[in-house]
Parts: sequence; C-alpha cells; structure tokens
Amino acid sequence: MRNCPLDPLPGFRLVSSMWFLWLFLLFCSSGPFTEAKCKFPAIFNFGDSNSDTGGFWAAFPAEHSPFGMTYFKKPAGRASDGRLVIDFLAQALGLPFLSPYLKSIGSDFRHGANFATAASTVLLPNTSLFVTGISPFSLAIQLNQIKDLQAHVLEPNHYGNLPHPKIFSKALYTIDIGQNDFTSNLNAIGIEGVKQYLPQVASQIAWTIKELYDMGGRNFMVFNLAPIGCFPAFLTELRHNISDLDEYGCMISYNNAVVDYNNMLNETLHQVLDVLQDASVIYVDTHSVKLELFQHPKEHGLLYGTKACCGHGGGAYNFDPEVFCGNSKVINGINITATACEDPQNYVSWDGIHATEAANKIITWAVLGGSYSHPFFPLSKLCDLQPIG
Ligand SMILES: *[C@@H]1O[C@H](CO)[C@@H](O)[C@H](O)[C@H]1NC(C)=O
Ligand SMILES: *[C@@H]1O[C@H](CO)[C@@H](O)[C@H](O)[C@H]1NC(C)=O
Ligand SMILES: *[C@@H]1O[C@H](CO)[C@@H](O)[C@H](O)[C@H]1NC(C)=O
Ligand SMILES: *[C@@H]1O[C@H](CO)[C@@H](O)[C@H](O)[C@H]1NC(C)=O
Repeated sequence: MRNCPLDPLPGFRLVSSMWFLWLFLLFCSSGPFTEAKCKFPAIFNFGDSNSDTGGFWAAFPAEHSPFGMTYFKKPAGRASDGRLVIDFLAQALGLPFLSPYLKSIGSDFRHGANFATAASTVLLPNTSLFVTGISPFSLAIQLNQIKDLQAHVLEPNHYGNLPHPKIFSKALYTIDIGQNDFTSNLNAIGIEGVKQYLPQVASQIAWTIKELYDMGGRNFMVFNLAPIGCFPAFLTELRHNISDLDEYGCMISYNNAVVDYNNMLNETLHQVLDVLQDASVIYVDTHSVKLELFQHPKEHGLLYGTKACCGHGGGAYNFDPEVFCGNSKVINGINITATACEDPQNYVSWDGIHATEAANKIITWAVLGGSYSHPFFPLSKLCDLQPIG
C-alpha cells in the first residue's frame, strides 16, 4: 500500500465526487501513477543568487552562456552550470522547479514561488543596480511580493496558475540571503565596518519570519552564510596577506567573521522560536558542508576547491575581477573571454562566487539528511523523497 496524501492537494474539494473517486484511485492506490507523500505541497523561497531560479534575469534580461551548460544546456536564470540547492530540494520533495515571481512568461505558482533575485540583500540597499550591481529586490521587497501573491490568491476568482489559499500554512519557507550584505562593502569598510550592521541583518530575517508566520507560515528553513573566505573571487579581490591563509588556502579573518555572523543568526532564530512556539524555525548549517567541500574536495568526488571552473587567468583561482564568467572585455587591445572549464563536475566553485551543480547536489544531500539542521529536521521523515539524479 502506497502512502496516500492525508491532505488532498489544492483544488480537490472543488471537483465532483466521480472525479474525486478517480483522483483517489490515481493517487492512493498502488501502481505507477501514485504520487509520493510529502508534508509540504509548496515551497516559498527568499534569497539571492544562491537560490535565484530566474527572477533577476526575468527583470533584467538576459543571461548568457555558459551558465546552465551542465543540466539545462542553455542559460536558465541560475548562477551555476546547472541546478541549485533549491532546485534539488524541489525535486526531492516531488515538486516542480520553482517559478520566479517576477517571470511573466510560463510561470506556475501552484507549488510555490521563488522571490529570490541575484544580488539581493537583506537590508534595503543604499545604492542602485546601475551603480554597484545590488538588486533592488531586497528581502523587504520580496516579503511585499508574497503578500501581494497571497492577496491575489484570496480573491474569489483567481487565476489558474495560483495555489490554493491553504498553501500558505502548509508550505515550506526557505530563506537563503545575507551574503551580499556581508560582502558588498567588505573591501571598502573592512570586517569591522560590516560588523556594525550585521545584527540588523539577522534581526531583519527574524522580523521577516514573524511576518510570514502572520500570513500562515509555520515551517521555516534559514540557510546560514557560506565560508566566503574560500571563494576564488574574494581570495582575488579582498585585501589579505599570506599569513591570513589557513592550510586549505582560505582566508582566516573573513571566515571567522562569517562564523561570528552565523552564530548570531542561530541565536536570533532561537529567540524567534521562543516566541513562535508552534512553528519550526530551522537553522540550516550549509556553511559546514561548503567548508568541508572547499577543504577536502577529493573526499567528495571533486578535484578543485578554491579554483573557479568558469573564469579567466588560470592560476590558483582562475578568477579575473575584470572579466566575469561568460563575459568578454578588450584589455590592452586583447579580447579576453572568461570561459568555462570542460569538467564542472570536478569543481566546487562555478564562477568564483557560486557553487557548481555538483557541489549543490552534495549540499542538498546534507540538507535532506537533517543532521545539519538545528533543531534536527529530517525531510526524509516528512516526505517520501524523490531521487534527485
Ligand atoms: C546606508 O546609508 C546610511 C547613511 O549613510 C548608513 O547609515 C547605512 O548603514 C547604510 N546602509 C547600508 C546597508 O549600507
Ligand atoms: C597580515 O594581516 C594580518 C591581519 O590583517 C595582520 O595582523 C598582519 O600584521 C599582516 N602581516 C603582514 C606581514 O602584513
Ligand atoms: C544555536 O544556538 C543554540 C541556543 O543558544 C545552541 O544551543 C546551539 O548549539 C546552536 N547551534 C549551532 C549549530 O550553533
Ligand atoms: C570578443 O570575443 C567574444 C567571444 O569570442 C566575441 O563574442 C566578442 O564579439 C569579441 N569582442 C570584440 C570587441 O571583438
């Protein structure tokens, strides 16, 4: 006997009894067409380029190759050669890839929406995309967008590609943002300067969770910050000297500052949990998984840690701040293009900042297992996990 969904999928109660019987047989009887059980019929994601499935490039087209080369075989709005952790998570829960909220063509929000855009910050930006490259869609704007979505869903005659109103209480909410708050001013004002506003970053995330709770949300996974001191881009761009490098070639001072922030985020989330006692507020320590990949890539089937697959210049980092992955620039009369390696499956870092599909898959396995989640949150117990291939 297969698992029958205890909560009928949205829209079922609208159908006639014969139709319902057919659907019951389809979903609840054994056979090739059974749908897996999962506590979460939808995901709502908030974030930056680490989880943007096409929002930024829907607003500001268009992304170009070699992004997407491994899985989608064309640019797919993701800052990677293939799928992101949020894509693998959706697949594992038996859901389609999340449509970006900003994408006006072909979107379907019945199983959630993705509000993340590349270069988003938690705090409202002081600057413009056209000045410093920071996205205007910061976390507060992303929150306004889901409120707007809910208002449309609650209208009596809403459109076909919107979810059931109950989705807001049943969905899994994922939040993966803060990296740009941490890094965008780092060279200008240094670690001590950035530390001045990091408490605001953590408390803004906490406030956002409370707002989502008021909208009905009960299950929140918050991803912590990655060890940016191991990123090829920051190893190239951020001031440091040789004594600041650890045995793995990562910058000690920047990584320590990330750990301090992550501990503060964890504390802040614990305080949220004390207030929202009937909610799950999960601190997901993807930092540890990423650090392990940078430190011991070979133990996880990879070859290169702090060297980017897609970039220019070769050397230890293969990152050129003048020419980002996929871009060309004429420098001293020579046309330089930052191209992709032929074997992204061997790299942790795709373009110096973002992870490869190979790394994202390993990170997702760790997230699904539950032991990097605090409190322990085994998605494998809450859902019949689907293979992520
Ligand atoms: C934005 O600018 C104001 C005033 O200069 C400053 O106090 C604040 O910290 C800045 N915020 C960020 C996120 O840089
Ligand atoms: C290297 O950087 C560290 C931390 O910024 C600093 O304390 C130290 O004096 C520097 N060493 C040299 C040789 O510049
Ligand atoms: C998070 O904070 C709680 C409460 O202070 C603490 O018990 C726990 O060990 C921390 N977890 C991590 C992963 O830092
Ligand atoms: C530089 O090379 C790229 C890739 O081959 C090409 O698309 C671009 O047009 C070239 N730019 C110039 C100015 O020649």
